[in-house]
Amino acid sequence: MLGKIIDFKINGDDRGSLIAIEEGYNAPFEIKRVYYIFDTKLGVERGFHAHKNLKQIAIAVKGSCTFVLDDGNKKEEVTLTNPNQGLYIEGLIWREMKNFSKDCVLMVIASEHYDENDYIRDYNEFLKEVNK
Ligand code: TYD
Repeated sequence: MLGKIIDFKINGDDRGSLIAIEEGYNAPFEIKRVYYIFDTKLGVERGFHAHKNLKQIAIAVKGSCTFVLDDGNKKEEVTLTNPNQGLYIEGLIWREMKNFSKDCVLMVIASEHYDENDYIRDYNEFLKEVNK
């Protein structure tokens, strides 16, 4: 598996559900940033990059979307449909996101602040980095 699924515990009762994500307990890194992607237009694909040093957990807190993960040798598709599942991605992985449902809210928890220098946005450069 290029990405690891983390099953979050649901604190459910007759009022509904609550999930807590805490550094060191169910998030295996220091949490420095949270961002979310929503109102994604029909048919849009995003991502198309790898990170040199970032760890992330992606959660479809509403709706669904599909991740394509690629380590330069093999590809894997993971569809997130459930707010109690997180997709943990670390290491040199090319990622693309697609099939966003209209209502999808994709929340991402990240180990570092936003840093454009951490991105590899060129697939050939990614392959070179993989084969170093
Ligand atoms: P982009 O990298 O294109 O998103 P995706 O990985 O989904 O294709 O980011 C879109 C814009 O948002 C771009 O101008 C950079 C900015 N951005 C931030 O300012 N902070 C962040 O944490 C992220 C992820 C993006």
